[in-house]
Parts: sequence; C-alpha cells; structure tokens
Amino acid sequence: MFEIKDKKVLASAIFQIEIVAPRVAKKAQPGQFIILRVHEQGERIPLTIKDSDHEKGTVTIVVQVAGKTTQMLSEKEIGDTIQDFVGPLGNPTELPEGEAKVACIGGGVGTACMFPQVKELKQRGCDVTVIIGARTKELLIMEDELGELANRLIVCTDDGSYGEKGFVSDALIKLLKAGETFDLVIAIGPLMMMRAVANVTEGYGIHTIVSLNPIMVDGTGMCGGCRVTVGGEVKFACVDGPEFDAHKVDFKELFMRQRYYMDEEKLAKEQHECKLPLK
Ligand SMILES: Cc1cc2nc3c(=O)[nH]c(=O)nc-3n(C[C@H](O)[C@H](O)[C@H](O)COP(=O)(O)OP(=O)(O)OC[C@H]3O[C@@H](n4cnc5c(N)ncnc54)[C@H](O)[C@@H]3O)c2cc1C
Ligand code: FES
Repeated sequence: MFEIKDKKVLASAIFQIEIVAPRVAKKAQPGQFIILRVHEQGERIPLTIKDSDHEKGTVTIVVQVAGKTTQMLSEKEIGDTIQDFVGPLGNPTELPEGEAKVACIGGGVGTACMFPQVKELKQRGCDVTVIIGARTKELLIMEDELGELANRLIVCTDDGSYGEKGFVSDALIKLLKAGETFDLVIAIGPLMMMRAVANVTEGYGIHTIVSLNPIMVDGTGMCGGCRVTVGGEVKFACVDGPEFDAHKVDFKELFMRQRYYMDEEKLAKEQHECKLPLK
C-alpha cells in the first residue's frame, strides 16, 4: 500500500498528491509516468510524474477528475493509502544540453506533466520559454511554480479572463512571427492542442515532442491498448513513448481510439456518483 503524504487542490477538479513510493522516486526522470490502482478491484490508470524527491522517497502527481477512478482518487485524503503505484514507466524525455532555446507548452493538466522537463532544462542551462493555457482563469495551474523557473512565462486563457486571450498555439505563432526561433518545442496537453502546436511548428521546421495519452492498461507493451501510429509504424505508447515526434503522429487515429469506451466510462462515473456524491 502507498500512503498519501500531502494533498493540495490546484483548481476546480484538479488536485496534487504526494505519495510515499521510494523505489519510484529514486529512478523517476522527466517524461515518465506511473500506473496506479486505487483499490484491489480498481482499474489501472496512467499518470505523469510531476516531481519526485529522492530523499523523502515521495512522488508527486497532478490529477484532473475525468471519470470514476480519478474521482475516487480525489476522495482520498492525507494519510489514506492506495493499492498499487507502479513505475517509473515509459522513456525519459530526450532533452538538449547547454544553450538550447526551448519552448515548453502546457495545456490544462498537461501543464503539470511538463513541469519536470522545464526543471531539468533549467538545470542544464537552457533558455526556456514556457507557455501555459487553460479554458478560463479558474482552471489555470502552476503559474507561480513555472514563473520562478522559466526565462519567460506566457499565460493564455481561451476566454481572455486572464493573460493573453486565445490558445497556447496562438501565443507560439505570435512569437515565431516576431522572429523568435527555438531548437525544440515540447507540447503536453489535450490532443487538439498538441496537434495545433505540431501544425504550427511543422511550417517552421522546429523539432517538436508531444506526450501521447492513449488508453493504457498494463503499461508493459503486452495488451496493445495504447497502440498509436507514428511515422506509419505501429508503436505502443507505454514502452515506445509516451513522447514522440509530433510531426509523425497520426492524431486522427488517436482521436478515434480515445473515444472507444466513452459510453462505458460515462456509466461507471454515474454509478459511482450515485453511491458517493461529489465533495
Ligand atoms: C501516459 C499518460 C499520462 C497521463 N498523465 C496524466 C496526468 O498527469 N494527470 C491527469 O489528470 N491525467 C493524466 N492522464 C490521463 C488519465 O490517465 C485519465 O484521465 C484517466 O485514466 C481517466 O480515468 P477515469 O476512470 O477517471 O476516467 P474514465 O471515465 O475511465 O475516462 C475518461 C477519459 O480518460 C481517458 N482514459 C480512461 N482510462 C484510461 C486509461 N486507462 N489510460 C489512459 N487514458 C484513459 C480516456 O480519454 C477517457 O475518455 C495520462 C494518460 C496517459 C496515457
Ligand atoms: S498499455 Fe498495454 S501495450 Fe501499452
């Protein structure tokens, strides 16, 4: 069993928990994720490692309530335990060294998934522009934490309630049109957002990495649940990714595959809510 050491609410339906998991904490690198089960009969869900503390032996994750399992996790409090916490899984991000200019772009909860890359890039001496976005001001997360790390932070909201009005991809277009150049762009967030960023950077020939989030079950390359097509080849996001060259990803297929179990997911959430009302 894995104990919850700390818990913070970051925004409506987005929370951060620190979990005691010394073995995972010891090996975790930017870009990697864990798979957890809340209880013995629970489903396995993948979540990105936002941060880890080798000395304390803890791993921090940021979770957005999407359905039954993330809802159940949100109902856990400090001192409670969860059944399984397996990782680190997936490949670490391939990050440049030294003077490279990198734009790290996060949308929604993807902002937290991108945090370890920003931290590592700064440690390596890179020049890091961070662009974060959310639908509205109330859903924006980690502005202060990223602001302290980044050379420059640009904040966007879709509805213009805070920062620049528009999508993160609009803010990137503005920079590129003003003559900015980047050696690498990393984009993590909703599929639509990652595809929009990929479309922009392709035109400028900028190498771009996205972190894909297909349905995962075992996380070992055995079940085939996380199959994606990249550069015309079949890949398993859990073992070959989760990060890939954005310009080679078949986003259309990924959109379709993500919607396969929507009816079942909706039913499971409704059944859970009937038994346990939302806090
Ligand atoms: C590598 C990776 C890293 C992720 N990191 C984060 C993170 O740091 N924070 C965060 O909030 N979310 C993250 N996700 C998404 C998270 O796994 C899903 O939101 C979660 O599984 C939803 O489960 P649920 O039972 O609450 O919702 P459900 O109602 O079961 O599903 C809601 C939606 O979540 C997705 N989903 C459902 N089950 C899975 C599954 N087993 N694997 C992947 N996606 C699923 C589907 O798109 C689905 O439509 C990540 C996904 C992947 C693949
Ligand atoms: S999650 Fe089963 S093959 Fe990737």
